[in-house]
Formats: sequence, C-alpha cells, structure tokens
Amino acid sequence: MVYGLSTMVYGLSPYLCAMEQLLAQIDQYKKEIKESIANTKEEVEEFRIKYLGSKGLVKTIMGEMKNVAVAQKKEAGQLLNDFKIFVEERFDELKGGSQPNATTKAAAIDLSLPGTSEAMGTRHPISIVQNKIISIFSRLGFAVAEGPEIEDDWHNFSALNLPENHPARDMQDTFYISTNPDWLLRTHTSSVQIREMQKGRLPLRIICPGRVYRNETISARAHCFFNQVEGLYIAENVSFADLKQTLYFFVQEMFGTAVKVRFRPSYFPFTEPSAEMDISCLICGGTGCNVCKKTGWVEILGCGMVHPKVLENCGIDSNKYTGFAFGMGIERITMLSYQVKDLRLFSENDTRFLNQFVSVT
Ligand code: PHE
Repeated sequence: MVYGLSTMVYGLSPYLCAMEQLLAQIDQYKKEIKESIANTKEEVEEFRIKYLGSKGLVKTIMGEMKNVAVAQKKEAGQLLNDFKIFVEERFDELKGGSQPNATTKAAAIDLSLPGTSEAMGTRHPISIVQNKIISIFSRLGFAVAEGPEIEDDWHNFSALNLPENHPARDMQDTFYISTNPDWLLRTHTSSVQIREMQKGRLPLRIICPGRVYRNETISARAHCFFNQVEGLYIAENVSFADLKQTLYFFVQEMFGTAVKVRFRPSYFPFTEPSAEMDISCLICGGTGCNVCKKTGWVEILGCGMVHPKVLENCGIDSNKYTGFAFGMGIERITMLSYQVKDLRLFSENDTRFLNQFVSVT
C-alpha cells in the first residue's frame, strides 16, 4: 500500500487551465509524493503505476496541457516537465531505499563539478639528468651498454690494471659478497666497458650508465650507492684531442655555452695520461662561492687515454687501437644543475622533493 496517495489523482478538473490552478495542484501533489512511503517492492511498483504508469498521474496531468491558454503553454510545459522529473526522482529514491539514483536525468553527473584528478608521478631528477646525458652522447654516436651490478674482481679491478694488492684499490672502498670474496658490488661502471671490449667488436663507442656502490659514510656529499655514466671510444688513431672535443661538446650541451672547462692532470690506473675535468662554477659563475670552495671551479669527471695494458687484457691490439674513457657521477651533475645541496635527498623518496622536478627530455 502506498501511503499518501492523493484521491484527487483522477479528479482533475477539465477546466483546469489557469496557471495558478495548475501550480497549486502540482504543489499539492508534490507534498503528497514527498511524504509517500513504499517499504516493499510491491509498494514501489504500486507507486510507479499510480504516478508514472500509462494511466498514472503524470500522464493525466500532462494531458491538461491542451486546456492551457496558448500564451502560457511554454511556461506550463516547463512546469509539467519539472514535475515529471520530481516524480521520477522520488520513485528512484523509493526504489533504491532512499538512495538517489545517479542514472536519472535529474541526478545525472554534475558537469560543473571539478574533476578528481589522479596524482601524476614525476621523473626522478637522477633519471632526468641521466636521460639528458645519454641523449647528448647518443648524438655523437655513443650506444648505451649495461652490465651486472654484482661483479667479479677481474672485471671491476684486475682487467682495469688494478692487480691484487694494488694500492689504488683503496681509492674505492669496496663491498665484497661475504660468501665469495671474488664477488663484489661494482665500484664503477668501467666493468661494463671491460665486458664490451672483450666482445671484440671494434671500433667501440659506448656509454655505460648505472648504479655503483662504495663503502663510504653517508653524508650530504657522499653515499654508499650512486649513479655513474662512463664512456669509452676505441678505434684507430683516437687521440686526447678527440677526448677533449667530445667532453667540450658534452659540457656545452649539458650546461650551456657560457660554461668554461679546464683539464687537470690526474691518476687512474686504467688510463694514461689521466685527467680530471672541471667546469666553471654554475652557482657563482667563477667568482668564488661555497659550492666551489672559493676556487671558481668544480670537478665533474675523470678521464684519460685507455691504458695499453687494459686493451691487451681484453684482447685488443694496443699497437693498432687507441681509445679514451671518461666517467662521471650523475648525482654530482644533478646537484650542480638543480642546486641541490644534499645528495641524500635523491634516495629518500620524499615526494615533496621529487615533485619539484620537471622533465626536460
Ligand atoms: N672509473 C672512474 C671512477 O669511477 C672514472 C673514470 C673512468 C676515470 C674512465 C677515468 C676514465 O672514479
């Protein structure tokens, strides 16, 4: 049984033509419909038939349109339409246990509401810079090579002219695998270069991006793991001039043409001669600040001509071939590019930090 049904449903006056009368009538019906209750499926169906059925109130009252004066037809049509929607909504409420049904016309999606957007991830700053470095060198014909992070002693040290007990091994504090002291976490991606040289496909022009590990105390400037990009070019007649020109190009593409470059003699067991490359400080422009320790210069990479012994270790004829190699830390380049003062931020996964970086590639 549907409560609150008007007994006047079928008692509309045929002379109901005045808008006022129609309005009053609709108000009355609305009140009744609002108060009507349907607890069971049958009662809901009863409501539907009485109000929305083919002989129901809505149809009947719609029929009154013909009695409305022409001048008021538009207004009356709107009124009746709204009434129909009102009844349909109430029906849906009763049907769904007073839950308004979102599929009805009136309760349809409100297009004016702002959408709920998914939080977009951002690229990690280290990835942004790594991708940029890769894209610069790939324009010079360098291909990307990758290798394992768990290495054997030979690929990480011995082949690179660092035999056992060589003092230069102390330059890189190493994590050894406790179950097999021949295994270690690579300390640089030079090990990938050894693997590529062993393949014997020459000329060789590769860059090796990847994570490396060193047993260092974690601080604002050092971490026990970080990322490198190392590069290697081996062919006939490769000279130090080629190395310099390649790195000049890299610096200009990476930091802009205003940045100055200088090479300082250095030592690496796997290159001879060896050098370190500095760029003019990006923060102070070379006048001296805390970042460059008042020198105006910051070191960004190590480089040199591949030591003939390293070539021979990989089965390459050092009389015929020469090559250059270089290696840089991506964290350092990223810190300089974005003026990040603490490299621990790169591995803390704090989205407040990470969301600030907009991909440039
Ligand atoms: N392997 C060196 C390091 O990790 C970098 C380097 C690579 C230096 C190639 C010279 C030539 O510090």
